Amino acid sequence: MCGIVGYIGNEQAYPILIKGLKRLEYRGYDSAGVALLNDNLKVYKSHGKVSELEKLITGKDLSGTIGIAHTRWATHGEPNDINAHPHSSESKNLAIIHNGIIENYGSLKEELMNRDHSFTSQTDTEVLVHLIEDIQLNEKVDLLEAVRISLNHVIGAYAIVVIDKNQPDKLIAAKKGSPLVIGIGEENEFFIASDATPIVEYTKNVVYLDDEEVAMVNRQGELRIKTIRNKEKTPYVQKLELQLSAIEKSGFPHFMLKEIYEQPRSIKDSMRGRLNAAKGIVTLGGIIDYEQKFINARRIIIVACGTSWHAGLVGEYMLEDLTRIPVEVEYASEFRYRNPVIYEDDIVIAISQSGETADTLAAVELAKSKGATIIGICNVVGSSIARTTHAGSYTHAGPEIGVASTKAFTAQVTILSLLALSIADKKGSIPKNRFYQLLAEMEALPQKVETALEVNNQILDISKIFKFAQNFLYLGRGYNFPLALEGALKLKEISYIHAEGYPAAEMKHGPIALIDANMPVVVIATRRGSYDKVISNIQEVKARKGSVIAIVSQGDTAVAQMADYVVEIPDTDEALVPIVASIPLQLLSYHIAVLRGCNVDQPRNLAKSVTVE
Ligand code: G6P
Repeated sequence: MCGIVGYIGNEQAYPILIKGLKRLEYRGYDSAGVALLNDNLKVYKSHGKVSELEKLITGKDLSGTIGIAHTRWATHGEPNDINAHPHSSESKNLAIIHNGIIENYGSLKEELMNRDHSFTSQTDTEVLVHLIEDIQLNEKVDLLEAVRISLNHVIGAYAIVVIDKNQPDKLIAAKKGSPLVIGIGEENEFFIASDATPIVEYTKNVVYLDDEEVAMVNRQGELRIKTIRNKEKTPYVQKLELQLSAIEKSGFPHFMLKEIYEQPRSIKDSMRGRLNAAKGIVTLGGIIDYEQKFINARRIIIVACGTSWHAGLVGEYMLEDLTRIPVEVEYASEFRYRNPVIYEDDIVIAISQSGETADTLAAVELAKSKGATIIGICNVVGSSIARTTHAGSYTHAGPEIGVASTKAFTAQVTILSLLALSIADKKGSIPKNRFYQLLAEMEALPQKVETALEVNNQILDISKIFKFAQNFLYLGRGYNFPLALEGALKLKEISYIHAEGYPAAEMKHGPIALIDANMPVVVIATRRGSYDKVISNIQEVKARKGSVIAIVSQGDTAVAQMADYVVEIPDTDEALVPIVASIPLQLLSYHIAVLRGCNVDQPRNLAKSVTVE
């Protein structure tokens, strides 16, 4: 939800800022803007993508070694030029970029209007920069102090960077609820950004701001941090492990395709050091001290949003199946507001690729306040959720930049599988032979996923046939039901085709009424689990002239006689099918979206990381 970048140093700021915005564009692309300072504070902004901004500012004065820039995912005010960031203060001496929502902006705005402030945009952000200037002038304080005091009046979430025409040697940044990282460059140079991707090519030394911290960076190489309650903090400098190549397309036309193809590696990385099938060892180092808590847990509650919620559903099936601990899976956005029953001997697992999703973070905080043990499964190292939980396990899938989640999903399911196996083994709730069988199957997963990727050309051909479909139905049973939901989500996210996922047997309680010759139905009909039942469901679809695209286990003959298109994937344990069967579903949505001319990496209205509720 919005990407922000700031730079101060000896280099020209503009090229660094624009490159940074392009790296952050996955966070939102409704509008973009930049403010650069030398003698004047120049603000340029435009609706649309960063490329629109670049067109707008061709030929303009772009000089300055200090500046801020923003790419927006609109919350308050439509995505037009005026509502684009940066926003300026009353005197136009200050400019701000902001990611988050100022919830009490209405009352603050009214107060400021009573003091003769006038506003040009409909945004909450403009109110904040006016407030900062108001405090700066009325209380006669410097910029750091003005920002700090202002934030005590603010309710909501923010990551901000503020620039002041009269103080061209410093930038002020602050955060609460939305992420912000400061890169410490060489020779008195600082980079500020929503995540490390705009920073990694310049420096590996970073400081992650905590909530309610305000930072000042200046040309003298000083980095000062204090809380909004005025307590000085010592910056904690960390080394980035991110590699530049991990955030580039490496020859693929889209990040999404690159990320789909990365899965043999990302799954392997998720298991590295955690699984040894020959020795019968499975351990998640990050939660080793919490294993007994799991064994004694009254219940496991999984909270997540979007694709991560689907991974949670797969986790529920496996955790209950293998550990016999009751599991509930909740949309974080519902959980946080519905006054749920939470016991101290509950374990809450928060799943989040970004580790920044506002609803998931709030759900974690609620459960923590009730005394539950919180375990995180996050992809982004050092993210807010990862830091708030008691313990956790990183997915190690590497940066995921395509807005539609692919490799993060399979990595999340991999971690949940390792977790279920490790707890079940220690609890003694899994027969030894099934345990060893599953470990061996897990170890074989990267190779099986590699083989599954060979269906790419076949999926492309199928995509050509169905690219103009208006609706799709996805069916699966047991472990494959959550995958049907995920397959449908992938398709609607990037191709804008209406798609629904259903448990195959539920079809006859409603969706069957939709089936006719124009309805493609994707059925995950792999050999294990409720195979025979799924075959009956396929027959029900065929009897109503629906077109069936079946995902089957290699060598299947029964489904081939009924389905219109049969896509074979390697056979595996039914609990692990969602990982292997994800591949054809991801490829189907990818190819259909490309054939329809959609922007797969930046689908309309979506953002990679939803840091607002
Ligand atoms: C957004 C993204 C989805 C993602 C969801 C949850 O909607 O577009 O791809 O699944 O947020 O994000 P998280 O980072 O918490 O997994």
